[in-house]
Amino acid sequence: MSADDTRGELPVRSEEDIVASRQKVRTLTQQLKFSLVDQTKMITAASELSRNTLVHGGGGRMRWEIVEEGVKRGLRLHFEDTGPGIPDQGLALTDGWTSGNGMGLGLPGSKRLVHEFELRSAPGQGTCVSITRWK
Ligand SMILES: Nc1ncnc2c1ncn2[C@@H]1O[C@H](COP(=O)(O)OP(=O)(O)OP(=O)(O)O)[C@@H](O)[C@H]1O
Ligand SMILES: [Mg+2]
Repeated sequence: MSADDTRGELPVRSEEDIVASRQKVRTLTQQLKFSLVDQTKMITAASELSRNTLVHGGGGRMRWEIVEEGVKRGLRLHFEDTGPGIPDQGLALTDGWTSGNGMGLGLPGSKRLVHEFELRSAPGQGTCVSITRWK
């Protein structure tokens, strides 16, 4: 595999970009031979996080990488923006908490759909949410 096949990035600046990033995650999870259920888990998490990037973060990008650890292979996604950041991460990860008029389930729901979840954010400096799902 060349480096181009193992990592890349897509803009997340519009509704069309969200559709494109979801499609990219579908293709990648299929290449990794995830089960249909596991494909759907990763696609659902990616949908929620890219929507947060667009709506709350003011737009950004999704970086993706195929990761390997010993014989394990998986997909890692990073959703990055330079928006307002998340002042209270504990609150943001609480089921049902929203600063707007969403359901407040995107972040905590995504966390439950993946094996690894990392949220890095500082007020005024943007947000990066990284998720990994292993095959
Ligand atoms: N990229 C981001 N930048 C800034 N704030 C964010 C970002 N992502 C999430 N948040 C904050 O965390 C809160 C919780 O996010 P979450 O996705 O769980 O809920 P929501 O987007 O409000 O509603 P929904 O259930 O529709 O996703 C948001 O209301 C917002 O305040
Ligand atoms: Mg959300």
